[in-house]
Amino acid sequence: MEEFDERLLSAKVMKADDETEESLRPHRLNEYIGQDRIKENLDIYMRAAKNRDEALDHVLLYGPPGLGKTTLAYIIAAEMGVSIRITSGPALEKSGDVVALLTNLQKGDILFIDEIHRLSRTVSEILYPAMEDYEFDIILGKGPSARSIRFNLPHFTLIGATTRSGQLAAPFRDRFGVLFRLEMYTGEELSEIVTRSAGILGIKITSDGAAEIASRSRGTPRVANRLLRRVRDFAQILGNGEINKKTAAVALEKLEVDELGLDRTDRMMLDAMIRSFNGGPVGLETLAAMIGEEPVTIEDVYEPYLMQIGFINRTPRGRCATAAAYRHLGIELPSQTLL
Ligand code: ADE
Repeated sequence: MEEFDERLLSAKVMKADDETEESLRPHRLNEYIGQDRIKENLDIYMRAAKNRDEALDHVLLYGPPGLGKTTLAYIIAAEMGVSIRITSGPALEKSGDVVALLTNLQKGDILFIDEIHRLSRTVSEILYPAMEDYEFDIILGKGPSARSIRFNLPHFTLIGATTRSGQLAAPFRDRFGVLFRLEMYTGEELSEIVTRSAGILGIKITSDGAAEIASRSRGTPRVANRLLRRVRDFAQILGNGEINKKTAAVALEKLEVDELGLDRTDRMMLDAMIRSFNGGPVGLETLAAMIGEEPVTIEDVYEPYLMQIGFINRTPRGRCATAAAYRHLGIELPSQTLL
């Protein structure tokens, strides 16, 4: 669904994550840690819809990758007691792809579209009336003999997930009754998630060990769970198998993940911004070329966390490294700085 990426700290799905991610996924709202405001509101909306015996309104989930958008969609299906069909924007190429999905939905069912900002125009044009009026038209044939056939659909719920709500056309965004922005997780929430995952995977971990992994996970459960599995290997081979603060710190150092969760690529990017461009502004394309990544990967994966911890700013002329970034890399600030 999402593209694979081999970077340890990437919030994107990696091949090895698939199965473990499945086993660690919470199935019910009360097992889901963090995103409290979303959980509270969602609980009300779901109970109200169930009470009225209606489908839940269409939901748009947005925010950086790895924060649990897909997990929430599965939870909504479980809580509503309905089936869910999973697809993604790039997978729906032709109108037939979306028609096949829509016409198989039962009342109340959920259609989950990941990366919904990447839907083609043809597919969106079918989806708009399907969302709004639970119907859509298909044109058969061409020229004077063309006819259109109307399909009526049961009331279903579309859940869209995107890293960039800004890229959705306004009329599309407006068709979602519920919009939730997922926030990065706090250290305590991530500690709780790491402890829960360790329990499921049968890993012994102390609370300071969980906190150590949590504090280096860039606010992202997917990264926390991935680091947990890597640290377990170190604890097993170099120690007695238990993860504590010390084994976690040693392992994370060997993995080149620093105390703030930055890896070599993050540091390389900041270093280049500072040393080659006096801290910026640097354009996105230049930044991408410097570290050999796609611009969208920088925007979706690297920048959100670096902005969250106040290491870079986005300005109209490009990205700038902040004084905090200089300090973290141990580089002296230029004396006459406007940072
Ligand atoms: N695993 C991944 N994300 C989680 C979350 N938000 N709560 C509990 N377990 C998780």
